[in-house]
This record gives sequence, C-alpha cells and structure tokens, in this order.
Amino acid sequence: MAQLKVLITRKIPEAGREILKEAGFLIEIYNGDRPLSRKTFLQKIASADAVIPMLSEQIDREVIDQAANLKVIANYAVGYNNIDVDYARSKHIYVTNTPDVLTEATADLTWALMLSAAKRIPESDQYVRQGKFKGWEPLLMLGDDVSGKTLGIIGAGRIGQAVGQRAIGFNMNILYHSPSKKKSFEKKTGAQKSGFEELLKTSDFISIHCPLTEKTRHLISSKNIFKIKRGAFLINTSRGAVVEESALVMALANGHLAGAGLDVYEFEPEIHPKLFSLQNVVLLPHIGSATKETRSAMARIAANNVKAVLSGNKPLHSVYPV
Ligand code: DGY
Repeated sequence: MAQLKVLITRKIPEAGREILKEAGFLIEIYNGDRPLSRKTFLQKIASADAVIPMLSEQIDREVIDQAANLKVIANYAVGYNNIDVDYARSKHIYVTNTPDVLTEATADLTWALMLSAAKRIPESDQYVRQGKFKGWEPLLMLGDDVSGKTLGIIGAGRIGQAVGQRAIGFNMNILYHSPSKKKSFEKKTGAQKSGFEELLKTSDFISIHCPLTEKTRHLISSKNIFKIKRGAFLINTSRGAVVEESALVMALANGHLAGAGLDVYEFEPEIHPKLFSLQNVVLLPHIGSATKETRSAMARIAANNVKAVLSGNKPLHSVYPV
C-alpha cells in the first residue's frame, strides 16, 4: 500500500516530525526560508493526505478543491483565520489547531510589549547604545506607570484570561469585553465584564485577544479609535486586521494614544511605513508563541492530530465539533 503523505509547509521542530516518522508516513517538508509560493503549494498539496500549514498559507476553496486526498488540515497555530473551515468541513476534511500550549508564552509576550511600550524600553536601549547616556537625569525617558492602572482585555479566552491573571501582580483593575461572562476569571482576578465603548473609554492599557473573523475585522478603526481614552496604550498580539492600521498610525502620530505594542500587522508581513518612524510603538515580528518549548509542543500537537486522522481516528483538537 502506498505510504500516506504529509505535507509540512515550513520546517517545524523535530518533535513533531519524529511522531510522523515513527507512524510511518511519508513526510514532505518545504525547507525554504520564506513561505512557499501559491503555485508550489497548489502543486504539492495535490497529492497530500494531510497538511501542516503555517498561518501564512491561505487554505481556500481553490486549495481544498485541488487536494483530492486531503483528510486533515492541522494548522501550526491556534488561530485559523487562514482556513476556509466551512468549506473544508463540507468536504469532510478535519481542521485542527494548537490550543493551550501557547497560552502562557503569548500572555508573557503581551506583557513584555505592554511594559516595553509603557517604560519606553526599545527607545532607552537605543539611547544607551548610541552613546547618549551621560548620567541620571530627572526628566530622562519618562514613561507611564502600569501598576494600579486599568487593563481592558478584548477577547477573554484562554490567552486574554492569562494576560488578566498576570495583572493581579500589578494591582490593576481589569475590564474585559467578551461575548460571554467568565465567572471563574472574574472570581480569580476581580475582572469585570464591560461594554466595548466603556472599555475603550476607561482603560489605560487595551490588549486584544479575540480571533480574527468577519465580525472582528477592524473592530478598532477610524470610527472608534478616538473613543479610546487619551493617553492609553494599545497592545495587539492576536491578528493584525482586528485593528485598522492606518487609524492606529493616526492616533499614535497625533499623540491621542501614548503608545502601542504590536506583534501582528493588518497586511502581514507588510507593515504600514509610518510605523517605522514612530517612537511610541514597539514592533515585533509575530513571535507570540516563539519559545522553544511552545513551538515544540505545537509541533507535537499538529503531528498527533495528523496521526490520529490518518490512522482512522478523530483528531484531538478539531476546530469544529466532531
Ligand atoms: C497562533 O498560533 O495563532 C499564533 O499567531 C502563531 O503561533
């Protein structure tokens, strides 16, 4: 019998590849240092029984129609806005993601961004490296307090809640906006559910943790960005398109927002050119889950989902009920 083929669109940690090798699948890994081209992806997926794609691969109708043998799309990410899930489901293709294992890493990075923006860490680092530090000064690099302020969390799922839990140590008031009430989160942290506009108006730090869907695209846009409290900070480690980037640029450039911390961009990997010249924004290259431990755990999850499906079982982390 022909070996079942698993296409992996970028090199992922060994831990995942080992699981697939041991299970006896034929693995095809694209080893390039940039995402594969659409044309190559379409060619390669045509003969695949399973695919482990990155969030840079758009898995739409054209791709799914091309993949006659495909049984599972095991996204190497927790977010899966790159996949037409309804269409995959209609073709009896499982779609899986990598939940839980990246919660803590992403929450840590969110806090790193929040503190970096508030304390002007990248600017201060540059200042020192450029030899400008001549001694303590009373007004040098004044930032903003984080402790005791109000944190507004948009999207209180696993990552949003983990970000909120860390805020206890900073003695913050926590607001969250989410479709449902999160009782245990409220109990643990004292967080309060808030209306969207109320959260914008009252938070000193706003952190975005909702998935990107048609409803959340441009959730923050030119229509409401100036409703955010003047002098607040906006942190985004979810998906870039939740924020209209040109509106964010405007609010940062005219000082309405004190600062921002971004790990994701609306037109990733393109970044609005004006962001590069603004000192009050910290820019990271989408590294929320980028720790050695987390990326290995994600690789294991993706591989185990593929293994389950190709062995005739249900996947462990289907994004739709199975
Ligand atoms: C995800 O998992 O969705 C992150 O954005 C990448 O790890």
